[in-house]
Formats: sequence, structure tokens, C-alpha cells
Amino acid sequence: MNAEKPFVYDEIAYPTPVVAQMATGRMRAAGLLHGWSAPDPATASVLEIGCGDGLNLMGMAEVAPNARHVGFDLSAVAIERGRHLAARAGLANIQLEAGDILTWPRDGETFGYISAHGVYAWVPQPVRAALLELIAARLAPGGVAYVSFDCLPAAAAKVEIQAFLRAQTAHIDGTAARVAAAMKLVKALARNQRPGSRLKPQLDLLMAEIDRYDPAYFFHDWLADAYAPTSLRAFGEAADRVGLAVAGDAGLGDLYGDDMDAEARALMDGAGSDFAARGFRRDMLRGVQMFRRALLVRKDAPPPRAAGLDDLAFAFSGERRAEGGRTRYTADADVFLIAANAQEQAVMDALADGSTRERGFADIARLVGDAARAAEILTRAASLPLIAAHATPPSYTLTPGERPVAGRLIRAMLADGDWALTLRHAKLTLKPGPTRTFLALCDGTRDRAALARDMTAAFNTPFTPDRIAPAIADLALRRVFIA
Ligand SMILES: C[S@@+](CC[C@H](N)C(=O)[O-])C[C@H]1O[C@@H](n2cnc3c(N)ncnc32)[C@H](O)[C@@H]1O
Repeated sequence: MNAEKPFVYDEIAYPTPVVAQMATGRMRAAGLLHGWSAPDPATASVLEIGCGDGLNLMGMAEVAPNARHVGFDLSAVAIERGRHLAARAGLANIQLEAGDILTWPRDGETFGYISAHGVYAWVPQPVRAALLELIAARLAPGGVAYVSFDCLPAAAAKVEIQAFLRAQTAHIDGTAARVAAAMKLVKALARNQRPGSRLKPQLDLLMAEIDRYDPAYFFHDWLADAYAPTSLRAFGEAADRVGLAVAGDAGLGDLYGDDMDAEARALMDGAGSDFAARGFRRDMLRGVQMFRRALLVRKDAPPPRAAGLDDLAFAFSGERRAEGGRTRYTADADVFLIAANAQEQAVMDALADGSTRERGFADIARLVGDAARAAEILTRAASLPLIAAHATPPSYTLTPGERPVAGRLIRAMLADGDWALTLRHAKLTLKPGPTRTFLALCDGTRDRAALARDMTAAFNTPFTPDRIAPAIADLALRRVFIA
């Protein structure tokens, strides 16, 4: 780091995204869907490298009070922000430290889970190498690591557009002016592409978002000094050199292969269970996967193999629509599923009907009448992803008692922000107003009558208990009340 110039992440805060796939319950579920068994998230320790303000780690700490959570980041400013929030939320099982990947001790306690989201492709090469070394040194036997990064070949056009934007705006002082100039340039590039342009697909993606892009996020992604996506082939080799192996993708897209032709399937089969080779072949066959969430395990002590999904619960996360006598289950505009048979339809309907609550694997297996077939259907839906797979029992309740308690992190975040991380690691945005105040009051000290009384006093308008009950039921569906 240059002593005279502030670290770029200290100067411009990175808007921490909610990364559900990094939650340890989701990582364990991803492992089981890939055929291996990661540690129990209720007790396994967690290290997050380059954690920013540690918000995702706090979401995990809140729902696993008996597990230790450690995060570090080079940005002392982000760490300070995170410590304040963790203290306000009263989270005792989290430790946030300022630290550098290059010098963080290799010796010391090992962790059942290690994650690094959005770091690997955005740091210089020596830091990238050190990141993998650190994971190899600190991952406990049987543990699992998550490393996300932009991926080649799909990111090839982005590399050049990014370098172009960086060079063309390097002389501009002030982040806001630089971001504005770079966004204007993107629009000029998009307008002037010739038919058949190899840059156009990437520019189209960028243009679809550019007017609502968070400037800080745009700055750290599109104007970052160190930006180097890597292929899964090269990543697998780098991991292999330090004793780690790729064991799947936490996004689960690597489990989907229905639409491959026979030659492609043979090519995939040829890679056997070498997940790095499989992933690279898939990337060459598909050409679309830009962002990857690689799962890593120790070559000398991988997690035990596991058969069956008994520990998992599934929640529908898409939309269901009737369409010409058939039902279409949609994840987003491009991804949908039309049930191939009655069993699949029954599973999807059961999950879509129960979108308010996860359904356990045993429940679905009973419905299908065949556990192996149920596992196939669920794996396919999770890989799209139309459903989320969770390995931890819910820490939330849909039916809070007489004195509802909203999660501590939720209350702390809403005290001075407009969004919170729910007890299922999702983003809940709330405008200022009654709902925020209501959640703040749900600290377990008030029964429903007291909640009605205090809301009436706060807003000078009557909140009767019969208005309170539906509000609680509605918020419970957002997974904010502690079980
Ligand atoms: C794109 S941000 C991602 C932050 C966070 N993981 C998230 O997803 O919100 C990259 C992070 O890596 C951190 N970082 C960069 N170089 C680092 C280093 N050498 N040691 C530790 N953290 C570093 C930055 O401070 C920044 O917080």
C-alpha cells in the first residue's frame, strides 16, 4: 500500500452485497448436493477473508450463536464500521480485524469454513496467490472454502472494456467525476458497436443496469486497478499447487446439464469427478458463466462423501404461472422450468405452495414415493436455481409468540439504515415509517397490547391489537422473528 495515498476501499466504501450462497448453511447444502458432507454450521468456526465490514459474517453469527466467526480486511475503515454494527447488535461470537492477506499469519487456529467473496479477481497477482496459500494453511480437515471471482472465457470482453475505461478516465480527479465519465464512455461504446461486435453482449449487459448502478460499486468493479479474471482451469491449477481441490460451485449451476447434447455429455463424463476440469469444459461448452463461486477442499483431507439429502430443506424462490394448460416456474427472465412429468410437477407445486416455509427432504421424498427420484428433481430445480437448499434448521419462526422478538442484527441495522439481513440471509428493504419502528419495538419486552400502545404513541394514530396481528404475520413471512 502507498503510505501517502489512502487505500481505495478506505476512501470509497464498498456497498456490501448480501451473498446468500456464502452462508454456511447454504454451503453445507451445496456440498451435500455435490455428494460430500461439510461441517455442521451450528458449531463450525468461520473465517472470512476480505470481509469488508463483515455484514455477511454477522448474518451467519446471528443464526449460529455457538460458532466462532472471524473476519479481516485491509480496509480499517470498513472493519471499524462493522465492529460498531456488531457491537450494537450484541453479537459476541464475531471478531473483526484489520489485516492484510499478504501478512495474515499462516499458523494458528483452523476453520471449518473459509470464504473470500469478490476478492480474488480484484487484487494483484501476489495477493491472489497468498489468498489460496492462506486458505490452504487455515482450512481444517474436512472443511470447505468459498472463493468467488470473475471467470474466463466469459469475462474476456469485460477485461478489455474495463482496461479501456480505466485508461481513458485515469486523468480525472474525484471518484464521482471519474465514474460519470466512465459511464458516459460505456454509452458511447454501446452506441457505436458494429453489427457482429464481440463486445456488444457485454456492453448490452452493462447498459441494462447502468442507470441504476451504485457509483461506488461501479468504481470498485469497472475502474479497479487490479482486475484479472481467471479460467477455472488456471484457478484449479493454482489451487492444486497449494494442496487444495475444486469441489463444485456454490451457485449450483454446475449440476445442470439437461440441455447438453450427447457429445457435450461425453466430454463432461470424460472429466470424471475432477470438478475443475468439469467446470472448465462446461465454461467452454456454454460460454456464459462470468461469475463463479468455487468451493475448495483440502486434497489431503476432503470432507467425507455423503449420499442422500436427508439433512436438507428446500424453499421455492421463483414465480409460478399457468401457461396454456401447463405450469411454468420461473427463476428469472431467462431461466424457467416446465415440469417434465407428474412427479416433478407435484414437487414444484408443493414447494411453490409452501413458499413461506422450507419443506424437508423427507417430506418431498414421501410425496414422490422414491427418495432417489426426489433427489434428482430437487437437484435439478436447485441448479437452475429455482429453489434454495438449506442445511440448517430455520432459526426464525413464522408464528411468533405473545412477545415477538426480531433478530438483533435486523434491529441494529434498521436503527439507522433502510435495509436489514433476515434470518435466512436475504435482503429486507424498508422505507422509513411504521414498519421500521415496529420491528425496533419487537425486542421481546412487549406483548401485543404493549406493541399497539407504543406504536399508537409513536405515530399519534391508533394501532389496535387487531392491526398488530396481521403486521406480525406479514413480517414473519420475511423471516425476521427469532424462533
Ligand atoms: C470487492 S470488495 C469485496 C468485499 C466483501 N467481501 C463483499 O463481498 O462485500 C474487495 C475487498 O477486498 C479487500 N482487500 C483487498 N486487498 C486486500 C488484502 N491485501 N488483504 C485483505 N483484504 C483486502 C478490500 O478492502 C475489499 O473490502
